Amino acid sequence: MTKQRLRQRILSKLATMAPNRRLLKEQQLYQQLFSSPNWQKATTIGITMSKAPEIATQPIIEQAWAEQKRVVIPRTQSNERLLLFCNYTKSTPTQSLRGIEEPLPTAAVIDAATIDLLIVPGVAFNTAGYRIGFGGGYYDRLLGIYRGTTISLAFSEQLVTELPVEAHDLPVQTVLVAE
Ligand SMILES: Nc1ncnc2c1ncn2[C@@H]1O[C@H](COP(=O)(O)OP(=O)(O)OP(=O)(O)O)[C@@H](O)[C@H]1O
Ligand SMILES: [Mg+2]
Repeated sequence: MTKQRLRQRILSKLATMAPNRRLLKEQQLYQQLFSSPNWQKATTIGITMSKAPEIATQPIIEQAWAEQKRVVIPRTQSNERLLLFCNYTKSTPTQSLRGIEEPLPTAAVIDAATIDLLIVPGVAFNTAGYRIGFGGGYYDRLLGIYRGTTISLAFSEQLVTELPVEAHDLPVQTVLVAE
């Protein structure tokens, strides 16, 4: 199956998940994340604002703030397909680009090497950590240079055994799965 077909298939599965199952599984994933040593020792969390039907990331951001962690979120640089991370606090203004909230173009960019824990979004994953994202290659480029800890959260609906992997695709270190 092509990446594009698999993306569509998984996204439609996510969009039709029963709302109560989704809420329960999200809570399980958050608890797995917050109890992990990688979360507990991280002081700077890199995370992308989610858009439906992805796993919601706002509760993760709120928890990081509650634990006095620094949160950084990316701005997309579409010409070079790079992610530029900026500090994100309750008072940081954002703008929506393709349905995802991003820092304004004027926000100061931080060095991604200061991120201790990078929470990597994705549509589909395999158990080895390979992933299919939204097709921009943004996270593949970042994973090529980022040397810190990487983790993804997935509903069992997002785990696939036959995941197409190309030479530029890079895995995350850990995929937390809510069965
Ligand atoms: N490190 C890279 N350097 C140059 N091009 C890349 C790199 N990584 C990915 N690409 C290109 O980006 C495009 C999209 O890649 P792919 O379909 O794997 O996206 P994706 O994994 O779904 O996206 P993302 O990584 O943002 O989640 C492809 O055309 C691919 O060749
Ligand atoms: Mg890829």
